[in-house]
Amino acid sequence: MARTEKKILGEKSKEIVDLLKKAYCDEMQIFHFFWYVGINMEGIGLVTYASSLKTQATGELNHGEMLSNRISELEDKAPSDPSEWQRVSNIGTLDPMKHLTLRSALEKALEFEGKAVQNYNNIAKRALESSDFVTYNLATTILADEVKDEQHTEDVLKGLEVK
Ligand SMILES: [Fe+2]
Ligand SMILES: [Fe+2]
Repeated sequence: MARTEKKILGEKSKEIVDLLKKAYCDEMQIFHFFWYVGINMEGIGLVTYASSLKTQATGELNHGEMLSNRISELEDKAPSDPSEWQRVSNIGTLDPMKHLTLRSALEKALEFEGKAVQNYNNIAKRALESSDFVTYNLATTILADEVKDEQHTEDVLKGLEVK
């Protein structure tokens, strides 16, 4: 941690680091979910939607990188062991193999994008309470992306309804 920031944040940075680590584990699992489904999608979704899933995957990976950088600034390291990610994460088990059709993938995505919105909202709130404005800024930036993700997923799902 830069030494001036260390002086300002003191012990309060520990709780923030734990929240950032959980969020990192979510992002890495969500990245893998979109990536895997984008490659292995079954049915009509493979031709119509697979490439947008891969684009979405890289967006989540970028969130992971932003979180990892902030964790490093706070003198810690993002969880490196993939076998730990489910346990540490907020979203728990996420196996893309179980969601290979377009509808199933989108329904699952709607669930975890909604959780991401809640989660970054919470991190922003806690960061503000701790006067950690750098993390606050990071959390609100990612939050804005997740709100878009949730809305987009909802719109595409609605578009699947038979009229
Ligand atoms: Fe994300
Ligand atoms: Fe997202």
